[in-house]
Amino acid sequence: MSEFDVVVVGSLNLDLVVRSARHPSPGETLTGSDYAEIAGGKGLNQAVCAARSGARVAMVGAVGDDHAGEYLRGIVQTEGIDDTLLATRPGVPTGRALITVDDSGENSIIIVAGANATVEVDRLPTSNVVLAQLETTTDVVEEAFRRGRAHGATTILNPAPAATLPDSLLDHCDVLVPNEHEVDLLGGRGALVSRVGHLVVTLGAAGAELVGIDGSISVPPSRVEPVDTTGAGDAFCGSLAARLAAGDDVADALRYAAAAGALATTVRGAVPSQPSRRDVLDLLDA
Ligand code: RIB
Repeated sequence: MSEFDVVVVGSLNLDLVVRSARHPSPGETLTGSDYAEIAGGKGLNQAVCAARSGARVAMVGAVGDDHAGEYLRGIVQTEGIDDTLLATRPGVPTGRALITVDDSGENSIIIVAGANATVEVDRLPTSNVVLAQLETTTDVVEEAFRRGRAHGATTILNPAPAATLPDSLLDHCDVLVPNEHEVDLLGGRGALVSRVGHLVVTLGAAGAELVGIDGSISVPPSRVEPVDTTGAGDAFCGSLAARLAAGDDVADALRYAAAAGALATTVRGAVPSQPSRRDVLDLLDA
């Protein structure tokens, strides 16, 4: 048996969040409201969602030796996520994300990598799934996927923030979970579908699609009232990883993940919005 259901290799950020009626134009100053400092980072958000979905999770990442790093490690521990391979880097700041959320709940984000840029994978515990994003280096993701596959793990990549990828990384990816913008940057559905085992495209409020060579299966959205979309894609990926690690087939795992992503839009903030298994099952039963 594997040591963990899901190993997440990824970022931890302190999110500096402000609400504003709309996003500013270049050179424009707006007055915002509701400033808050909230736990986030695509890696941490996905790890938290996987844990709240019932998975045994380990986090591979790095924080600085500052208050933000201590705070984020505390969240990891409180969520029951193993932090043995979460490094603390002396003299390096913890990652930050500057986030604006407008009245429709849409966000814009600028990240400053800090310690996330120093993540290394010298060893990886065994797991059913290795889950990664692109807020660490692509070399680190590829190394994690190589090691994970050597243990028999399924590798899942959420290629966010959008970036071009080396072929060698795609070659080590079993499940790719981009949004439409990321699909375009990576060469389109046709180019991707033959490169990875499963291509899952997230469509925001329109749900998701499992794209195959011969056609697609649509996963409809759940009806919710969004207040903040930050972390919704992470809820999708974290819960998808947890359900695949538990042995669900891809179609069942996708229905669960789409509901988790929808629920995450109903709560403000990234980590605070990651839903529990109970909440997801209640929404699916509604
Ligand atoms: O996906 C949302 C996350 O992106 C935020 O929590 C922020 O930290 C950035 O990494």
